[in-house]
Amino acid sequence: MINAKLMQLVINASNDGIVIAEREGKDMPLIYVNPAFERMTGYTLDEILYQDCRFMQSGDRDQPGLMAIREALESGEPCREILRNYRKDGTHFWNELSLSTVYNPADKQTYVVGVQKDVTAQVKAQQRVAQLEAQLADLRAELEALKATSGSNKN
Ligand SMILES: Cc1cc2nc3c(=O)[nH]c(=O)nc-3n(C[C@H](O)[C@H](O)[C@H](O)COP(=O)(O)O)c2cc1C
Repeated sequence: MINAKLMQLVINASNDGIVIAEREGKDMPLIYVNPAFERMTGYTLDEILYQDCRFMQSGDRDQPGLMAIREALESGEPCREILRNYRKDGTHFWNELSLSTVYNPADKQTYVVGVQKDVTAQVKAQQRVAQLEAQLADLRAELEALKATSGSNKN
């Protein structure tokens, strides 16, 4: 078993955001965020301590992934969803959020650990592929239509 000091060093060294929230009724106030989360979002721990992480959505609340997150937090099941999030400077990024619930028998409290990964490059690449596939489908349809017209002109 590793000691608490080493655990802290490891979490501080992580390249992905790691945050811990405490369950308080419907809200999950943040009690810890690591340096990678601060770098990713532009917020410092002091600025967001005891706030629920929904501030990262900045009013952009109509997102399919949120329903799955609400259900997972309700049931205590883990989940992984990609969300549109906003940094402190207002710029948006795609956040792959992984949530796991932990019960601590020592204080009889429930905590949730969140791991955040900036997947903006991957999401943009997927969007570009989808766009190019749609253009290709249109071009194929046009080509088929041209073939059909030239075939009927020959007759
Ligand atoms: C530990 C933890 C980390 C979270 N991290 C994020 C996050 O990085 N970005 C985000 O948009 N929502 C995050 N959430 C989800 C929101 O805090 C909130 O639970 C979600 O929006 C559902 O609440 P709502 O019904 O008010 O929308 C996190 C939740 C928890 C418990």
